[in-house]
Amino acid sequence: MIKILTILGARPQFIKAGSVSREIAKFNEIEEVIVHTGQHYDPNMSDVFFEQMKIPKPHYFLGIGGKSHGAMTGQMIEKIEEVALKEKPDWIMVYGDTNSTLAGAIVSSKLHIKLAHIEAGLRSFNVKMPEEINRILTDRVSTILFCPTQTAIENLKHEGFENFDCKIIKSGDVMEDGAIFYKELAHQPQCRTEENFILCTIHRAENTDNVDRLTNIFASLREIAEETQVILPLHPRTKKILEKYGLKTEGLSIIDPVGYLEMVWLIDHCSLVMTDSGGLQKEAYFFEKPCITLRDETEWVELVECGGNLLAGAEQEKISNAYRDHKTVDKNIFRSNLYGRGRASETIIKELLNYS
Ligand code: UD1
Ligand code: UDP
Repeated sequence: MIKILTILGARPQFIKAGSVSREIAKFNEIEEVIVHTGQHYDPNMSDVFFEQMKIPKPHYFLGIGGKSHGAMTGQMIEKIEEVALKEKPDWIMVYGDTNSTLAGAIVSSKLHIKLAHIEAGLRSFNVKMPEEINRILTDRVSTILFCPTQTAIENLKHEGFENFDCKIIKSGDVMEDGAIFYKELAHQPQCRTEENFILCTIHRAENTDNVDRLTNIFASLREIAEETQVILPLHPRTKKILEKYGLKTEGLSIIDPVGYLEMVWLIDHCSLVMTDSGGLQKEAYFFEKPCITLRDETEWVELVECGGNLLAGAEQEKISNAYRDHKTVDKNIFRSNLYGRGRASETIIKELLNYS
């Protein structure tokens, strides 16, 4: 019998965990105990994903959200440690690069519990991003690093991980498992959509916490919206900052964050994705849509290399050029197998069962 303590806290982690939990449920010899840190807490940032992904209800809800990074991470470490001491899991499982990920990793290292990191090895090489630090530190204390891409494996090799006491596995990307599975269940959200529309999300700290970048991005979006509808499900973080600075959003179709089944419908039916999200860049590729990434760098470099992802940063001229160029992206580039074609969860669970 293997007992896994899964640490979840933020929206993309709920989506990734959906596919892995479905796989775990196939095995009687694995017990999963789920901890929700509370990092995301609005119903449309949290509950809706547990319902739609059919993730078992969290066994522990820590209620630690809306705090500074230090307070949030520190309190999560304290509470996850209490749970881990009580549950005595064989593994702690963490996803991605959020503060909840780092907190789970620190607890595993203090208590000498094996750590499985899903989405390991990614790097933006921008150490000002909180996510970059979370990734590097989590990877360093992981027992098994489940890498979504070959680039992630190469990043780890460059950092000397082959000399460390850990196992590096190329698992593919659990988000592709989800995209394939949930596509069949997707449905239109309750919002007006024109025949041609752009799907946009903005929430990364590097954009929301820099008023110049955010002002430029929204100016570009307003200009583009004169030609094509821009649907923007608004992250609560971005909403607060837009209100604080009174930034203009006229002409944009702003809606509340949507559940994943609605989101998959929007990705599947849009003509272009514009985003600073990590997950959405890949989903654009899965659904054969060009993507303009509103960041200066991306961890998903293979998307840029294949030509489907246009890295535009936050300058108006670059964004306009990318908008012009997306119209000539060749659809054939989306046919390559970059992320494992939906077998990642199966690979991960098999590996955990065989680990000795
Ligand atoms: C976090 C992750 C980011 C990930 C994102 C996914 C870190 C450092 N960042 O960013 O990598 O891309 O989740 O969405 O972990 N808020 C609400 N309700 C919620 C959630 C957030 O109002 O349900 C507001 C709060 O004011 C909060 C702010 O948004 O302080 C930021 O939330 P936080 O969890 O700190 O970071 P995210 O920007 O969501
Ligand atoms: N997403 C969603 N509803 C929304 C916005 C995003 O379901 O209103 C999904 C999106 O499709 C992707 C995931 O949330 O699967 C990505 O989360 P986010 O952009 O918050 O985080 P990141 O991937 O940047 O860490």
